[in-house]
Amino acid sequence: MPASTTPTTTAEIRSAFLKFFEDRGCKLFPSSSLIPDDPSLLLANAGMNQFKPYYQGKKTMHEIGATSCQKCVRTNDIDIIGCDGRHASFFEMLGNFSFGGVSKEQACRWALELSTEVFGLPKDRLHFTVFTDDDETHDIWRSLGVAEDHISRLGEDDNFWAAGPTGPCGPCSEIYYDMGEDVGCGRPDCAPGCDCDRFLEYWNLVFTQFDRQEDGSMPELPHRNLDTGMGLERMSAIMQGKTSFFDSDIMQGLIKLGEEISGAAYVSDDYEGPSRSLRIIADHARSVDFMISDGILPSNEGRGYVLRRLLRRAVFHGRLLGVSGAFLTRFIDRVNELMGDAYPELVKNATLVKGIVSAEEERFSQTLDNGRVYLDEALSKLAEGETLPGSAAFMLHDTFGFPVDLTVEIAEGAGHAVDIEGFNREMEAQRERARANVKGDAWGTFNDVWTELSDTLAPTEFCGYDADELEGARVLAIVRDGERVERADAGEAVEVVLDRTPFYAEMGGQVGDTGVLSSGDFSASVSDTKAHNGIYAHVAHVEKGPLAEGDVVSATVDHHRRELLRRNHTATHLLDAALKEVLGEHVNQAGSLVTPERLRFDFTHFEAVTADELARIEELVNREIFAAKPVVTQEMGIDEAKAAGAVALFGEKYGDRVRVVSVGTEERPFSRELCGGTHARNTAEVGLFRIVSESSTGANVRRIEAVTSEGAIAFLEDRARLLAESASALKCRVDEVPARIASLQKDLHAVEQKLKAALTGGASDAMASAIQGAVDLGAYRLVVAELPGLEASDLRSAWDTVRQKIEGPVACVLASVTSKGTPALIAAGTDEAVAAGFKAGAIIKQIAPLVGGGGGGRPNMAQAGGKNAAGIADALAAARTALGA
Ligand code: ALA
Repeated sequence: MPASTTPTTTAEIRSAFLKFFEDRGCKLFPSSSLIPDDPSLLLANAGMNQFKPYYQGKKTMHEIGATSCQKCVRTNDIDIIGCDGRHASFFEMLGNFSFGGVSKEQACRWALELSTEVFGLPKDRLHFTVFTDDDETHDIWRSLGVAEDHISRLGEDDNFWAAGPTGPCGPCSEIYYDMGEDVGCGRPDCAPGCDCDRFLEYWNLVFTQFDRQEDGSMPELPHRNLDTGMGLERMSAIMQGKTSFFDSDIMQGLIKLGEEISGAAYVSDDYEGPSRSLRIIADHARSVDFMISDGILPSNEGRGYVLRRLLRRAVFHGRLLGVSGAFLTRFIDRVNELMGDAYPELVKNATLVKGIVSAEEERFSQTLDNGRVYLDEALSKLAEGETLPGSAAFMLHDTFGFPVDLTVEIAEGAGHAVDIEGFNREMEAQRERARANVKGDAWGTFNDVWTELSDTLAPTEFCGYDADELEGARVLAIVRDGERVERADAGEAVEVVLDRTPFYAEMGGQVGDTGVLSSGDFSASVSDTKAHNGIYAHVAHVEKGPLAEGDVVSATVDHHRRELLRRNHTATHLLDAALKEVLGEHVNQAGSLVTPERLRFDFTHFEAVTADELARIEELVNREIFAAKPVVTQEMGIDEAKAAGAVALFGEKYGDRVRVVSVGTEERPFSRELCGGTHARNTAEVGLFRIVSESSTGANVRRIEAVTSEGAIAFLEDRARLLAESASALKCRVDEVPARIASLQKDLHAVEQKLKAALTGGASDAMASAIQGAVDLGAYRLVVAELPGLEASDLRSAWDTVRQKIEGPVACVLASVTSKGTPALIAAGTDEAVAAGFKAGAIIKQIAPLVGGGGGGRPNMAQAGGKNAAGIADALAAARTALGA
């Protein structure tokens, strides 16, 4: 057992590790985001991810190495989470890294020193594995005093490490802590690599020396590198004398909350039932919090799907534990209490995270209810032990959004397996259908030539922030039908690449510029501009030709259209700032579209924006416009920009140098954003801002569409025209329209009332004869009749009429065929009739089946509908008989 002066809590272990390596000259790096800077990787899964360029020799470091504590998410083992003491979807990885600066021997020496001297682990409890033929590492451990029988050799599965299918990788050596003979499988030959919990691997030392390519080849990296990873929670368990990851301090803080909420009791060595669900909820809730606060939103693909799946599994396991209401945001609060010191982004984004979690939880609860009904029915039709067909699992997934692992879990609970292969076949067929539906997309098919161009040409120089005209641009390439060609003739549709251009290529929501390319005898109209890996393609129609590679042309952007774009883009920034001010800091841009005609802005918010809020937002934006503030753009380092409070897109990656667009020059500008778009020079150019619509685009995302300047005037003119047309139709002045409509509505209401009275009242023949036919039952009078042409709601008025027309105790059973052709029934009685034994609910219950329906109600009033209007006569006859009339 470690001595009491040794680091014991997770926080102490984290600091002790990082300090150890900082003291040895390694540079401390903060954890990178869970969204990796690497397209080959879905989520950050190891400390080494952020150092990939250093391994590949693209970046160099002065220090001998680096150290970090990295947020990681791994979901390849999602199904076994909770079933042992070692696996989790989220964990913290402590690591030290070096890119040629630290030898293998040094790395092993440090690992042993930290383990035994700082953490105080007894050497005889430590076991080491090395890659099959890695004699060098074997000999290093021996020279450091490790006994021969504490070193074993394992193959590629265990002792060769790679972050993904391609990229830096290499053989590794792992360090295990022996939890003792009492723990785990109990087999005498149990050893590191066994699946049980006895030997806990807590540190992996990877000697990263290869760079695996797409084709599987593994060229050597420029250096002999080092990448180590220590599982922080595993180390916490060891230092706290526990055998399970989930029994360490932070995880226990979460599991205790699960116990409180559900009333279930956690048993440390029970890996099934409630204890497993408690582990799953604790683990998944932590992942969800970290993922959303790094900018991932629930969706049906990619990392958004991983998030959705984890969140839904947590909710589902809550249900399994009998928790009926929403509970997940309480876990978010608890994670933040436990981990907010080390990860301030959790606290900063807490409102946003909780909003997203509760909206998604609510939506999924609905899904669970709907899907559960379908699944229970499907399961009830199966014979004992029969497998649930893949098509049912697919239907649940596709129609109800019911994750297949939940289907499996529920089906297994009811003693049925699920045909997963059949499910996968259906999924594949659906993907095929989706692929077949994708129309030939120019960018898709042209991809090859653009990849080649971006590999060979320098990125296009954009010089259109201040000017919209440029002379002397050189044609670097011409592309026709996806092929590079040397020249283009009149009448041809091509894409033209220039060395420099004032044309803005579609990016950051702003659509591409249009305009003209020309020179002596050549001219082409440009209908769009697109960027591909930094190469701008002017989508052009050659009007006069020819144009050849190497030619020099003038490029002229459609000035008026560009001005409209500038104004709308600046208005988007003003809107973003106004939304934050009025609705709160949880508002984050989720998408935008800036066109000459209008702007569209999607943002995170959890309910509809009220008319009042919209008015305030509009007013704020217009205030900035009328104040005629300068719009200032500056280039600066990303850290400087963030320190200056520039709004970055949630979850977006930026380079080292960024462009910052601010409205107003004062210390606290109204808006300051990282942005590459083109903007008005002064807010006054925006002229006027009007919101056109507010709507929802998903569970947590709202959309505002708005217009500015000419667009706003056109919008207002259109409204004015509509108003003038309305006034003329109403034959009044424009300012009289509201009063005129109010008076018309009043008239209409009066007419409706009269009509109703005519249909249901004394004027109706049917009603009159019904009343005449009232039967005296002694204690009360009874009216039983069919009244044609009434809706279900009119039957109540008909009863009112009966009551008014017949004095004294009275009851009725009335029927009608509604305008939809369906039957409607009512039974009702005065208090005296009820006291004398009339029971409206019972009568309706008895006769409704005769019209193919069901219903009931209170003794004094009951209604029913049905499917079969032909049964009305029988139903009324049955009522008469039942009431003795
Ligand atoms: N990158 C290595 C791992 O994740 C250290 O195991």
